Amino acid sequence: MSIELLAETAQAMVAEGKGIIAIDESNATIKKRFDGVGIECTEENRRAYRELLLTTPKLSDHISGAILFDETLRQSTRDGVPFTRVMADNGIIPGIKVDKGAHPLAGFPGELVTEGLDGLRARLEEYYKLGARFAKWRAVINIDDDAPSGTCIEANNHALARYAALCQEQGLVPMVEPEVIMDGSHDIDTCYEVTEVVLRSLFGSLYEHNVVLEGTILKASMVVPGTTSGDTASIEDVALATLQCLKSTVPATLPGIVFLSGGQSDEDATAHLDAMNRMGPKPWPLSFSYGRAMQSAALKLWSQDIANNVADAQKTVYARARDNGLAAMGQWNKAG
Ligand code: 13P
Repeated sequence: MSIELLAETAQAMVAEGKGIIAIDESNATIKKRFDGVGIECTEENRRAYRELLLTTPKLSDHISGAILFDETLRQSTRDGVPFTRVMADNGIIPGIKVDKGAHPLAGFPGELVTEGLDGLRARLEEYYKLGARFAKWRAVINIDDDAPSGTCIEANNHALARYAALCQEQGLVPMVEPEVIMDGSHDIDTCYEVTEVVLRSLFGSLYEHNVVLEGTILKASMVVPGTTSGDTASIEDVALATLQCLKSTVPATLPGIVFLSGGQSDEDATAHLDAMNRMGPKPWPLSFSYGRAMQSAALKLWSQDIANNVADAQKTVYARARDNGLAAMGQWNKAG
């Protein structure tokens, strides 16, 4: 492992005004997205859709990297050019989702633990050969009356730390993602407290596993009220709470933090990021690694006529990348 190379990749992922597009939905998740717009979830439709996203003209103006699913990393354009080649030619760093999903945590009803450590070293070795230079692992933390338990937090963070150490051993930058889920009736203060506990424990686990922070990226959820709480929080409230929580938990040596969108509207995801970046000095670049908030408008448009709407759908992908890229610099203008 070269720490310099890992650090170089990590810094490139959060280069000024750039962020990540997450297109790493598992086949089960992309089926849900396709079902929502009436597209059949065949391998060819998944390939065609990912080709649309990855060949968006000038995508790299605002996108530094893309997270793929295993199937996508091995696919090619209709003309036979491997997606990894398309990305390399366009200056977009290939990333790969390496966890095997969140599964029920035995003994803790309603809580989940992410699986996928068995055989991970060999998979990472192969992914590196296929061109991947960073890897994502998502832990899922639900908030409820009795959740999250300390056991759930510890189990997930232990797995995140083991995956991160393996990634670095194999030359890939770990993008560690402890997602505190928005669903629930909790208020914003509870989300803050849970996020703080989770992140504090995560960085303890990374430290115990000798993970080099200079070669690590955090993928964080924002501090928001639960979706069924009935509470509203202004853009500034969310930005202030999220920034304060991150400042009190995330070491300054980390090269950058990127956010997931987690079900926020496209506009909220952009506005929150923009507001945080307008809030003055902070130790790390704050950017995006959005899935839904990068893709949903494009998917809807494409679904209306998958043979003829490719170019128009790509225009919406570019527009979302541009808006989020500007938000990563605190320069987004809502009026467009
Ligand atoms: P969303 O932005 O849709 O939450 O997806 C990001 C992601 O990669 C979650 O793991």
